[in-house]
Amino acid sequence: MEQESKIKKLGTPITVGNIRFETNVLMAPLAGYTCFPFRLMARKLGAGSAYTEMVSADGLKYNDRATARLLFTDEREKLKCVQLLGSQPTVFERAARSDRLAAFDIIDINMGCPVPNVVKAGEGSALLEDIPRASKIIEACKRSGKVVSVKCRIGMNRSKIVIEEFAKMCEDSGADMMTVHGRTRDMMYDGEPLYEYIKLAKDTVSIPVFANGSIDSLSKAEEMMAKTGADGVMLARYGFENPLVFSELTGRKTSETKYSLLTEQLEVASECFDELYVLTYIKKLCSYFMKKLPGTKSLKMDLYRCGNVSELSKVIKNIFDR
Ligand SMILES: Cc1cc2nc3c(=O)[nH]c(=O)nc-3n(C[C@H](O)[C@H](O)[C@H](O)COP(=O)(O)O)c2cc1C
Repeated sequence: MEQESKIKKLGTPITVGNIRFETNVLMAPLAGYTCFPFRLMARKLGAGSAYTEMVSADGLKYNDRATARLLFTDEREKLKCVQLLGSQPTVFERAARSDRLAAFDIIDINMGCPVPNVVKAGEGSALLEDIPRASKIIEACKRSGKVVSVKCRIGMNRSKIVIEEFAKMCEDSGADMMTVHGRTRDMMYDGEPLYEYIKLAKDTVSIPVFANGSIDSLSKAEEMMAKTGADGVMLARYGFENPLVFSELTGRKTSETKYSLLTEQLEVASECFDELYVLTYIKKLCSYFMKKLPGTKSLKMDLYRCGNVSELSKVIKNIFDR
């Protein structure tokens, strides 16, 4: 009974550093997916915060189009959260203080990416094995004066679980919040999250701890909250597949449908990005939205054949407005 009363309610506001998140249900960074229009949509549907795709801290020094797109934001995004990837504290400090990140309120540090090239470069989940360096990176980001969060896994593999020590280091180094993806690096994106280690992180620190991994329904989110005692949840893949889940998890009513959302996404993306990117992004979003619709093989082929925005708009109508 006492245990039950400690479980936080989904959809409640939470303060991180000096920033108030309207809800404790967050949208994760997803490379290739969480562009500006998507983040606006997730927030509108109830996500308390939504993160850019991971951005190379070192890459900020180049003025390339790809990084400019990753960092694109404007006044419609009320809370701006950027995620940085890297391995050098000095590079993080320069990035965090740079004009290119001036608009961002929160810097999230990627300490969980399992991709071999990233790990080989000492970035992402490699930092789980270099706790002194991870600490210096957090301190370096904090010197920018921004709110700093960490997103990490629980360890490299089951015989090297470091989350207790790691969580303590995050808090001691000044992190304002952490998100724990309850998998080890070698699990990549499969398998049941190890809830007990997310709980261990939560029990170790007093900064807010968000739980991440395999949440694809209200019942899974509630199970995550109950098993970990976390302050909130962060959704990733399912948040992209069905952003309406944010309204369900936060109890916010919405009259939006997948069709209305897609039409709006097409509009916002067209305002902000070139047609090639718009086509790629909307086709991806649309095919995720179609995942659970039966008999859509030929519609999917129509979708992938679209060569411009007006064709795409017609195909979307054909698929969803019926
Ligand atoms: C395609 C893809 C891209 C991802 N990109 C990022 C990223 O840029 N930064 C990050 O911290 N995690 C990234 N992740 C990890 C997710 O944010 C999340 O931690 C993971 O997918 C587990 O959550 P889920 O089971 O709800 O999807 C990515 C995952 C996938 C599948």
